[in-house]
Amino acid sequence: MTSSPFSDDAVPLELLRKRAFNLRWAQQPSDVIPLTAADPDFPVCPAIQEQLIRYVREGVLSYGPPEGLPQFREAVAQWMWVTRRLDCTSEAVFATDSAASAMAVVARACLERSDEVLISDPVDFLFHHTIERAGAVPVRVSSSPATSAEEFIAGMEARVTPRTRMLWLCNPHNPLGVVYPRKWLQSVAEWALRHNLRILSDEIWSDVVYAPHGHVSLASLSAEIARSTVTVYGFSKNFALAGLRVGCIVCGDPAWRKQIIAASDAESTVYGVSVLSQVAVIAALQQGRNWLAEFVRHLRGQRDYVLERLMRWPGVTVHPPQGTYVVFPCIRSLSDDAEKFCDYLREDARVALVPGAERWFGPGASGHVRICFATSRRILQEAFDRMEPAIEAIA
Ligand SMILES: Cc1ncc(COP(=O)(O)O)c(C=O)c1O
Repeated sequence: MTSSPFSDDAVPLELLRKRAFNLRWAQQPSDVIPLTAADPDFPVCPAIQEQLIRYVREGVLSYGPPEGLPQFREAVAQWMWVTRRLDCTSEAVFATDSAASAMAVVARACLERSDEVLISDPVDFLFHHTIERAGAVPVRVSSSPATSAEEFIAGMEARVTPRTRMLWLCNPHNPLGVVYPRKWLQSVAEWALRHNLRILSDEIWSDVVYAPHGHVSLASLSAEIARSTVTVYGFSKNFALAGLRVGCIVCGDPAWRKQIIAASDAESTVYGVSVLSQVAVIAALQQGRNWLAEFVRHLRGQRDYVLERLMRWPGVTVHPPQGTYVVFPCIRSLSDDAEKFCDYLREDARVALVPGAERWFGPGASGHVRICFATSRRILQEAFDRMEPAIEAIA
């Protein structure tokens, strides 16, 4: 019997200590457990590994087409239909060298200096960072896991101005773990359309959703919503391919897509996605579905375990994530400064978390910490065993 790809022994710690950057193993002292950047500790699925080896052995690594390999675009279009009934042609898919850069390309294509973009608060730092980099202004709309569509719309109403151009949504939401239901999305999207706003829907987390919740892709709601929506998608979270820097944009409107591709500079070869990264994605989408299902099953168990352990932290409140592999507890009962709280845990318990600091998630994250649980049960248990006495000491 082969052991699960998500068993305790599957985590290649020595390799992670050399190769996993971005606040993770390779950037921490060797005795610190990082539950930081949302990047799995597990090796990628064997089908991806084999396909990459085969492609390299064949030895031809020429330029690819600017929009992405036809097989890549076709595989994404099929995946979108099969997994979420998002009806898109392969022409609608544009390969990008990460979801982060997909957001940047859309910002460059669609925003001018001082344009305003509505985003939720809190949300992943890439939202405000990318908008600001394009010279535009992120306008934050307060949001919690309990925020109804009516409340979110009221928040947008209060902030919309003649300079507002876009609404950027994160679904499933990092760091809140919310998976927005169809009605919520429909109301919010219709409000945006009434205000002539285009929508960027960041759905990089859409494959990591826990039943009974289900992902609804914004552009699948209606033809009208699809015309005003660009979907950002990626392969770092679902298939653990963060280091290959690959993602994509799905945009059904040919004129808008042309504008986005022009802004990327892919046609001049200044921009482009490694063909190897695209080959990995083709293998993932065509042969990785069972691996992904098993990964999500593992993550569900991890989520439940984290929630159980967090219940022992006095006064700490947490909304169970409906999707993603991050959990975002409010730790105000233990500390009024999330940065200091995280410094303390790193020093005292040798566990690194991400503080709910404005630079990571916006001012709405204050009093919270983000914990990534895409690791083995053994490592997660060890991390909580280390944190528990440190928490008891300050409670
Ligand atoms: C909501 C969200 N969007 C985009 C990204 C960036 O993903 P990528 O690694 O494809 O750039 C992340 C990564 O954490 C994310 O959480």
